[in-house]
Amino acid sequence: MTTINPTGSPSLEELAGVPSAAQLEKMANDLFPELSEGYKDVGGFYPEPFACEERIEKFFTNEPASYSPAVMSEDEAKEDARQIDVPTSLQGEYAAVGQEPDRNKEGRDDTIIIGSKTLRQIRDDFPILKEKINGSSLVWLDNGATTQKPQVVIDRLKYFYEHENSNVHRGAHALAARSTDAYENARETVRRFIGAPSKDEIVFVRGTTEGINLVANAYVKPTLQPGDEIIVSILEHHANIVPWQLIAQETGAVIKVIPCDRDGQLILSEYEKLFTKNTKFVSVTHVSNTLGTVTPIEELIAIAHMHGVRILVDGAQSVAHIPVNVSAMDADFFVFSGHKIFAPTGIGAVYGKKELLEVARPYHGGGNMIKDVTFERTIYNPAPNKFEAGTGSIGDAVGLSAALEYLEAIGMPNVNKWEHELLTYALSELSKVDGLHLVGTAANKASALAFKLDGYSDEEVGERLDRYGIAVRVGHHCAQPVLRHFGYESVVRPTIALYNSPDDIDALVRILKTFA
Ligand SMILES: Cc1ncc(COP(=O)(O)O)c(C=O)c1O
Repeated sequence: MTTINPTGSPSLEELAGVPSAAQLEKMANDLFPELSEGYKDVGGFYPEPFACEERIEKFFTNEPASYSPAVMSEDEAKEDARQIDVPTSLQGEYAAVGQEPDRNKEGRDDTIIIGSKTLRQIRDDFPILKEKINGSSLVWLDNGATTQKPQVVIDRLKYFYEHENSNVHRGAHALAARSTDAYENARETVRRFIGAPSKDEIVFVRGTTEGINLVANAYVKPTLQPGDEIIVSILEHHANIVPWQLIAQETGAVIKVIPCDRDGQLILSEYEKLFTKNTKFVSVTHVSNTLGTVTPIEELIAIAHMHGVRILVDGAQSVAHIPVNVSAMDADFFVFSGHKIFAPTGIGAVYGKKELLEVARPYHGGGNMIKDVTFERTIYNPAPNKFEAGTGSIGDAVGLSAALEYLEAIGMPNVNKWEHELLTYALSELSKVDGLHLVGTAANKASALAFKLDGYSDEEVGERLDRYGIAVRVGHHCAQPVLRHFGYESVVRPTIALYNSPDDIDALVRILKTFA
């Protein structure tokens, strides 16, 4: 594990990725202390091979690491750079793909019942799914990046701008009252959807990224002293790494990382070992955006609480797939983005326990969040307004409410059950593609089906799929640490959601088989 050091210039060996003599010696001493300490006494004792393998594996996969983070400029980063080889060998011609199924004919989608609707009815609720891309029906498998919007959300936005638009909380006129009602009702819908005790515990933000930055700066940073520790997991999206690095850098805190096993599952025993008297906060994802691992969130929370430490749950990739109840899981903070749950971009929410929001400092200053201002002092409004300086995304909050109500009508347990079936089908079909290796094989997965295809670059795979209207994401998915842990710089990542059909999986697999 490297500690990032922006000031020390790397040696030539380091630039080439070769460990220095000192690093090799330290590694050897850590792995085989008996060799360095007692070699002479035991008369040439060598550890027996199995124990040796085990120790090497533990050294590379389970070693708890702590980082004194540095956020680097491009120039500084260049010094730290490593050369990465990406295979670019496109082999063969595009093969014939066969007939795409006629989506208008009665088929599987009519027989799949999800709550009160058939899958076909659900698909019909999302107008963009009828779009043709390069002559083929759109197959939207990029839900991890963002989800498509149902007609009810589009209509709700239109209605808001046609009949309700005004700034909130400010005017004494009819439209101000309408928009304030719509905005505050949206807050109530979010509360109900995630099972929070009070709507005063729901802060509207632009999305998960802003939400994590808010908690880091408003609640955690004021508590940090040099040497304090923040725990995150190796699975995190950059949005749940960089904000902690920024505040750690400012305060002298360090970041510790929960490791994962070969399947991409967090190792709880290692997590427990990371706690010390200096641990100040934990921030972990509920679902990995790249591997799809569903983390054991209740245990992660319970263990943090056992150590008297507060915890944030990044719900960006869970909230559209798994029923969430922040009270039952006992999260201290829970954050998510609207656009990943069929709502507009530019809106998301932070849930924070009342007593924590009360002690947190405002993150932004401005209008809306104040009770009284003089040049000498400002008296803030109580939460949540204390954290909502300026004009928020009012229409988008109303759209978020419509999206959550749409899901409530179908029932999140039904959504979850259906997606589980579809994911199981997808995993089984993908296993039939020659040369395809899944990245992330946790027993409990949601949505993501990341893979590598032998002999092809991820870009080649993504481009060919796009030719047939199939949208998947390729790249590092803003989760470079976990990908590098598995030895990759990028992967191809299809991600499913409620409206995906087995026909979408068949289309994906049909094109992937043309690479063979
Ligand atoms: C797990 C996770 N956390 C945070 C984010 C950041 O979300 P946003 O860009 O909506 O702020 C994402 C986005 O992909 C994510 O997948």
